[in-house]
Amino acid sequence: MFPKKEKFGGKAAYILALAGSAIGLGNIWRFPYMVGEHGGAAFIIIYIICSFLISLPIFLSEAVIGKVSGHGSYEAMKRLAPNSAWRGLGMMAVISSFIILSFYCVVGGWSVDYFVRSIAGTMSVTSRESASALFGSVAGSVCEPLTAHLFFLGISAVIIVLGVKKGIEVFSKISIPLLFVMMVIVTVYSISLPGAAEGVSYLVRPDFSKIDASVVASALGQSFFSMSLGVGMVVTYTSYSKDSGIVSAGAWTTVFDTLFAVIAGFAVMPAVFAGGLEPEAGPSLVFEALPYVFGQMAIDMPVFSRIATIIFFFSILLAALSSSISLFETCVNHAMEHNKFSRRKATLLVLVLTWVLGVLCSLSFGPLKDVKIFGENIFGFCDELTSNYLMTLGALAFAIFVGWRMDWQKVTGSVGRFFHFMIKWIVPPAILTIFLSSILS
Ligand code: PHE
Repeated sequence: MFPKKEKFGGKAAYILALAGSAIGLGNIWRFPYMVGEHGGAAFIIIYIICSFLISLPIFLSEAVIGKVSGHGSYEAMKRLAPNSAWRGLGMMAVISSFIILSFYCVVGGWSVDYFVRSIAGTMSVTSRESASALFGSVAGSVCEPLTAHLFFLGISAVIIVLGVKKGIEVFSKISIPLLFVMMVIVTVYSISLPGAAEGVSYLVRPDFSKIDASVVASALGQSFFSMSLGVGMVVTYTSYSKDSGIVSAGAWTTVFDTLFAVIAGFAVMPAVFAGGLEPEAGPSLVFEALPYVFGQMAIDMPVFSRIATIIFFFSILLAALSSSISLFETCVNHAMEHNKFSRRKATLLVLVLTWVLGVLCSLSFGPLKDVKIFGENIFGFCDELTSNYLMTLGALAFAIFVGWRMDWQKVTGSVGRFFHFMIKWIVPPAILTIFLSSILS
């Protein structure tokens, strides 16, 4: 009924592709500003606990669905729970990945813009004002962000057309090791800046008085976003895997993702403090603070600072690409399985749809900034809808399905039993409690 599926070359490729999806803007762009907004080290500790105790079991739930069914989320639910409303979960996951892809590529476009400027030497940020003016024009004008957005989307589409092995696998195998090396270089540079020590201590000295229900909910939401959960990406990638070692794949993905987020925190925060800036700047933190700080350093050390800037923005670009392709593939796989489209046709369809919503998201920083949905601009609405609600709901539903509806008879061994217990009894109530208490507080 279905054409034969493409598969990853082996376990390493599967894990690297998963790590590629997990490591992204969520780690370099979102994680540092979330840490800054929620009080530093204590947030990081809660984040790590959430990742291993809640996100990892959810990852495994999605992986089990992909493994047992051999399909993406919609077809998987159709087969595992025939004639039931569970297929709605599969569809919701595909729609969520489409919405995330649309706004994600806008930020991907900004990273293209900053990278090109860092190479061309046209960043020219000499003051805080010029840093925000630069971000304002990169994000808020019309031609520049739309061109960069299209370029970013285009590269993602090319990788997807190349397929699972020649596209996603090859890209992940190159980009993930490179990303770690580059981020460590920037971290070393950042920590060596005068005044950086304060930033380091901000990341290692927890202040638990800042922790409340909404901080825990933010840490959990950040962990879901960073590990790409609740949108069927893990289901799709696992359906491309030949081996059965999903527990170790999940553990590795969690370790890589958490490690990379922490390294990125150490790349960004010391620089922010070295520049005398506030860590609570929010989404513009990386795009404003880093060019400003590295720009200041350029006065004394022009070569080092230039290299650090180029490497930093290249890392953001690569990380964004390795994640955007996973969202893209989740949608393309759906169109191939459900609509029986060829890979090319499915890619073109997703490209066009994502471009349309992406243009609206991009313009919501410029000409469309007064268009509000529930008080947010279009970009903010798409971000909140998916990160705060759809991903959480998807993650919860995948765990409930696997914990309560799937047959676990064959699961043996203490590790398998431990995760079954977590998925069935601990994860759903934990998510519900955290989610509801943050809404009610
Ligand atoms: N995990 C990615 C990041 O950290 C974002 C993402 C979310 C990718 C959902 C795929 C699915 O940037």
